[in-house]
Amino acid sequence: MSTASPVPGRYNAAPGKAPESGGAAFDWQPDGPNLVVAGDNLEVIARLPDGAFRLIYLDPPFNTGRTQSRQRLRTTRSESGRRIGFKGQSYETVKGAVSAFSDSFMDYWESLEPRLLEARRLLAGDGTLYLHLDYREVHYAKVLLDALFGPDSFLNEIIWAYDYGARPKRRWPAKHDSILVYVKDPSQYFFAAESVEREPYLAPGLVPPDKAARGKLPTDVWWHTIVSPTGREKTGYATQKPEAIIRRMVQASSEPGDWTLDYFAGSGTLGAVAAALGRRFVLVDSNPEAMRIMRARLLAASGTAFVGWCQGA
Ligand SMILES: C[S@@+](CC[C@H](N)C(=O)[O-])C[C@H]1O[C@@H](n2cnc3c(N)ncnc32)[C@H](O)[C@@H]1O
Repeated sequence: MSTASPVPGRYNAAPGKAPESGGAAFDWQPDGPNLVVAGDNLEVIARLPDGAFRLIYLDPPFNTGRTQSRQRLRTTRSESGRRIGFKGQSYETVKGAVSAFSDSFMDYWESLEPRLLEARRLLAGDGTLYLHLDYREVHYAKVLLDALFGPDSFLNEIIWAYDYGARPKRRWPAKHDSILVYVKDPSQYFFAAESVEREPYLAPGLVPPDKAARGKLPTDVWWHTIVSPTGREKTGYATQKPEAIIRRMVQASSEPGDWTLDYFAGSGTLGAVAAALGRRFVLVDSNPEAMRIMRARLLAASGTAFVGWCQGA
């Protein structure tokens, strides 16, 4: 591998070293280093091969109107000219309704759609997508993913419940995120329940003592605090997610040695968890602050190459 400055088709930094300058192309290899790539995710992931990742975790910015790069719908169409996807007709109907209802949701939808289509392409045949959203977007995203993956590929909606922040008095305080779980192929997906850290029963007195001692497999409702402002994990990145939440996904839906991918990587939580559990990772983010934090957080992770802005792939 080249350690020199950017050469198309090569990494522009040795594992563990930050690149001298940006503008590099890169070339992912199954036996290559972990990668942290700065750039617009749609442009970067277009360079990754089909079926390379056992697990994809995506935590896109919520629909605040600040999605960084808007990408118009790609023209993947069926022979009849309709959008490819499960039950194209109802998909188009829902999409039309959303577009009439809200411009800002349409922007969000059209930004997310090509990125989710790519997720399906990039997943291994037995791979799993975890899409992390909040209550404002999750229902639209469910319609979108049903269209792109097929409703049979829907595995779970995980509720991550936490308890912090203001409590409005005019409605129930919203204190959860939703994580949609889709598998590429419902007939052969990987799920290792026995590898997931167990948790205590809520009412241990109601089960036999040996069961109570062993704990239980978490359900689809995960109670966990946000990243503590004074804790070991804190990186200072505003939208950082707790490692324990992502650890469950990685334990259940991948094995040591597998490649994992996060192209809304932020502070690199997926990379930190993957490295600790012996998985490999590709992380992408367009924000220079995210790159700075990931560099500090993941430099120690063995065999990680940091790649500068990927332009004009
Ligand atoms: C909610 S944060 C992810 C936080 C992350 N899960 C963590 O634990 O730190 C979303 C990230 O997506 C990035 N992002 C938004 N649009 C992007 C794009 N088009 N290409 C690459 N990254 C993008 C933002 O810079 C931000 O860091």
